[in-house]
Amino acid sequence: MKVCAVAPGRVNLIGEHTDYNEGFVMPAAIDYTVTAEAAARPERCITVYSEGFGEGESFSLDRLERDAGEVRWIDYIKGVCWTLEKGGYRLCGAHLSISSRVPVGAGLSSSAALEVAAAAALAALSGHALAPRELALLCWQAENEYVGVRCGVMDQFAVALSRSGSALLLDCRTLEHQHIPLPLDRCRLLIVDSRVPRSLAASEYNRRRAECEAAVEQLSGLLGRPLRSLRDVSSEEINRVEEMLPPPLGQRSRYVIEENERVAAAAAALRAGKLQEFGRLMFQSHAGLRDLYQVSCPELDLIVETAMGTPGVLGARMTGAGFGGCAIVLLEAEAAAEVEQRLGEAFARRGWRKPHFYLTSAADGLNVSREAR
Ligand code: GLA
Repeated sequence: MKVCAVAPGRVNLIGEHTDYNEGFVMPAAIDYTVTAEAAARPERCITVYSEGFGEGESFSLDRLERDAGEVRWIDYIKGVCWTLEKGGYRLCGAHLSISSRVPVGAGLSSSAALEVAAAAALAALSGHALAPRELALLCWQAENEYVGVRCGVMDQFAVALSRSGSALLLDCRTLEHQHIPLPLDRCRLLIVDSRVPRSLAASEYNRRRAECEAAVEQLSGLLGRPLRSLRDVSSEEINRVEEMLPPPLGQRSRYVIEENERVAAAAAALRAGKLQEFGRLMFQSHAGLRDLYQVSCPELDLIVETAMGTPGVLGARMTGAGFGGCAIVLLEAEAAAEVEQRLGEAFARRGWRKPHFYLTSAADGLNVSREAR
């Protein structure tokens, strides 16, 4: 038997830096995917060939400890084998072949797509039927505990559970999710890669997480009740006590609390077919990320400002962790060429490299197919 698993990258439409605060996110899968093809082999050994890196690697399923040193692409695959086996899903040996069309290092979750595709292919080949939600959790665990990146649950869930034509509304506390149809008949999503390397992303990401945790502790005291996360605080409450928090905890908390409320408003706007309103919330989200949460950068701000001034654009914001990577622009299909041209010119005027553009629809999440041989 041969198994083929295809998993997409993702953009986040709204709900940024809320997942690790047990809040709400609304990502969508994109038209760029990772494909993992697996065929069984007799010994408990996995050989992997990566088309993108042009190299092969192999490891034994009985020796899955992580090698010391820098994270390499193979660690994502070893990591999912490790969590699958630890979760009681014993794997058989396999030849695994990986090819990726998801831009790497741009904040489009190429690593979550690799994890989910590889885990799905290896699990199916070994005869395990895992629900996408369980697969997403095991991949998230691999990224946190094996690879050592402390991310929230959004990326793996978006990759595993998204549905074509819809956004995925995910409650990151209960993990309940809903597919909300995007009324995109005449509209598109334009992904704009700023091409700014996300060198600060890891350290600043961890710093923001620590700030949120510190804010929760102080807010518990100020509000006089035990809080588990910023999810448990309303905007009326933060209005009352923000001044009493030491900087920057007040503005960080305000951003997260307001962003959670924006996700609820964005879901309501989509359900009512109000795409203009959805776009307005995207602009507001970006302003919060820039001014309060401070995870944007001049290039991402320029993309959003330029888009805002272009006819046919409904909304725009940075997407993902920030400090470089991508922004998304929600626009009428005919406006894409004009937006691309204006952005190219605006970047050139500042002497910056031309951004990369990817036009996408809201795509399907993970897809697994089996072929008898
Ligand atoms: C990264 C993380 C996600 C999420 C976003 C910010 O993409 O992997 O879990 O925290 O940043 O919204």
